[in-house]
Amino acid sequence: MPCLIAPSILSADFSDLRSAIDMINESEADYFHVDIMDGVFVPNISFGFPVMKALQKHAKKTLDVHLMIVDPDRYIEEFKKAGAGILTVHIEACKHLHRSIQSIKHNGMKAGVAINPHTPVNALEDIIQDVDVVLVMSVNPGFGGQKFIQHTFDKVLRLKQLIIESSSKAKIEIDGGVDLDNALPLIRAGADILVAGNTVFSSPNPKEAIKFLKDPL
Ligand code: DX5
Ligand code: ZN
Repeated sequence: MPCLIAPSILSADFSDLRSAIDMINESEADYFHVDIMDGVFVPNISFGFPVMKALQKHAKKTLDVHLMIVDPDRYIEEFKKAGAGILTVHIEACKHLHRSIQSIKHNGMKAGVAINPHTPVNALEDIIQDVDVVLVMSVNPGFGGQKFIQHTFDKVLRLKQLIIESSSKAKIEIDGGVDLDNALPLIRAGADILVAGNTVFSSPNPKEAIKFLKDPL
C-alpha cells in the first residue's frame, strides 16, 4: 500500500546539506519536507530563506514547506519565490485562515493546513474543501526526533471520514515520530503522505529507509 514520502531536512547534517539533498533526489522520496520555525509559534528556530534558496537550486522534487510561524500571510509570496510547491500554515497561527489559504493558491502553490495535537479535527469542517493537504501533527511541533502520539490514529480516522463526507480532495499528511513500525498502520488508517526526519537521517541507509516507508508491506 504505497504512499508519498517527505523526508524532513531538519534532521539532515547541515554541514553537508548538499549530500542530503542529493540523497533525497536519488531516493524514492516524493517531496522535500522543509520546516520553517520562528521561535515564537514554536520554541525553536530552524532556518529561513538562504537555506530555502539552496534547496531551490539543487532539489529536483517538490518543496513541501511547513510554516511554524506566526502570521504567515506576511511571507506567502516570498515562499513562492523561494521555490515552495506546497505551503502549509497552522490553523493555530492564522487569524483569517480562509484568506491565507486563498492567498497561497492565488500565488500558484498547493495549500495545506496543519493542526497541532490538541486541535480537534472538527475545527477543519469549514475549510476542508479549500485545502489540498491537511498536515496532522503527531508530535508537538518544534523539534525532530520526538515520540509519536498514539492518539493521532484516532484523528486520522476522523479526518478521513470528514474528507469523504465533504467530498474534499485533501491529502492527509502525518508529521512527527513516523517510523518503520507505525508507517503501515498510518497508511491503513488513511495517511497519504508521511514526513520522516529522524527515521530517515539516523538510518545507516537513508535511501532504504525511504523505500521501506514508501511501501511498508
Ligand atoms: C516538527 C517538524 C517535523 C520534524 C519531523 O516540528 O514539523 O517535520 O522534522 O521529524 P521526526 O520525523 O524526526 O519526528
Ligand atoms: Zn514538519
